[in-house]
Amino acid sequence: MIGNTILAPSILASNFARLGEQTREAIKAGGDWLHIDIMDGHFVPNISMGPVVVKSLRPVADEVGAPLDVHLMISDPDRYLADFATAGADRLTVHVEATHHLHRTLQAIKELGVKAGVTLNPATPVEMLDPILPEVDLVLVMSVNPGFGGQSYIPASTGRIARLRQMLDEIGSEAWLEVDGGIDPGNATEIVGAGANVLVAGTSIFGGPRSIAGNIAAFRVALGEA
Ligand code: DX5
Ligand code: ZN
Repeated sequence: MIGNTILAPSILASNFARLGEQTREAIKAGGDWLHIDIMDGHFVPNISMGPVVVKSLRPVADEVGAPLDVHLMISDPDRYLADFATAGADRLTVHVEATHHLHRTLQAIKELGVKAGVTLNPATPVEMLDPILPEVDLVLVMSVNPGFGGQSYIPASTGRIARLRQMLDEIGSEAWLEVDGGIDPGNATEIVGAGANVLVAGTSIFGGPRSIAGNIAAFRVALGEA
């Protein structure tokens, strides 16, 4: 049985020479969404990929039935929303720190027919999201400083997830509460216990101790969803 927690394998940790094959394996083994990290070398100190990779993965996503969850770690994301929507993104998540008019940006995402997400760095108070929460389809809690895969989960993230769960419940929001960074089968239950329902995992799925399918199975076992 596949469980209720949505697992979003982060392709940043995959072998890009085998991207299609590895993403198919991850979804067929019980992954749910494909998480795609877009980095511009400006908002974060790393450069990753652009719309062309989203476009390449679109047919793969259709084949295996997985939405493309695109995390924009870029300054002034408004400039590229249409490009990513056209390329095939199903969700577009922007950083509260990267845009001056967050409400306008979220409206623009929705007008493109894409689910609108917002995220915040570990040092940004969760209360920053309070005015905007009724507008969002997805809240992403960064549990590492964005820019690189393979970092350790920041323990204070768990309290932040719990606080955001409370804030969402208070307004009756059914937005996804997603967490990103340093997640593995060893801390997954703590994160879901705090109220998250979407887990992003890169290194522990594409670089974990077992096969990709075995690493996903380990998450399901840890979550009691096997
Ligand atoms: C970090 C990215 C993450 C990253 C997670 O900036 O947003 O999505 O791929 O990687 P792991 O699971 O290796 O921490
Ligand atoms: Zn991410």
